[in-house]
Amino acid sequence: MPITTRRATAADAVKLAALRWRQIAEGGDHVDSDRGAFIESFRSWVDDHQATHLPFVAEMDGDVIGVAWLLVAERVPGSERRRHFGDVQSVYVVPEMRNAGAGAAVLADLLAEASRLGLEHVTVHSSSRAVPLYQRVGFGHGRAWLHWSRE
Ligand SMILES: CC(C)(COP(=O)(O)OP(=O)(O)OC[C@H]1O[C@@H](n2cnc3c(N)ncnc32)[C@H](O)[C@@H]1OP(=O)(O)O)[C@@H](O)C(=O)NCCC(=O)NCCS
Repeated sequence: MPITTRRATAADAVKLAALRWRQIAEGGDHVDSDRGAFIESFRSWVDDHQATHLPFVAEMDGDVIGVAWLLVAERVPGSERRRHFGDVQSVYVVPEMRNAGAGAAVLADLLAEASRLGLEHVTVHSSSRAVPLYQRVGFGHGRAWLHWSRE
């Protein structure tokens, strides 16, 4: 079965929530609620953030196996009044489907949409293990990019 990708919608919110729950559980992070409450709260968050947080999914045989989110944010106006940039967040492929190209495929779909939307740039905070993946789909290191993190 081939892996396909598409932009997800609020209609996919429960599947997106279930994937996010799996990702958090895999990371070993503590969640202050049970799975059902988390799914409901995440579903409502997806609904409320449709304009700014665009989900993209990879599917195989009808199942959602991976996800990547594109945060779209507005920049201070310059010579052009409307300027936007993007940030890639919460990229996840279920463990049993890894290293088969789903991550690269969903990121390629996301970047195609970033291009269509005219985003000036797209950033990502990668784990060191995933850097080659992002480089393969077109990300590069920039000398002028700095970041600050809360300790
Ligand atoms: C990162 C991740 C989304 C890649 O999905 P994938 O479908 O396996 O990706 P692809 O098959 O297209 O590409 C494989 C690449 O993913 C990266 N990768 C593989 N396993 C990984 C892992 N456990 N954690 C992080 N990155 C991984 C590597 O860059 C690998 O390329 P390489 O073998 O040449 O180094 C997936 O491994 C994952 O969900 N990891 C856990 C969550 C995570 O680390 N998210 C990204 C944080 S920035």
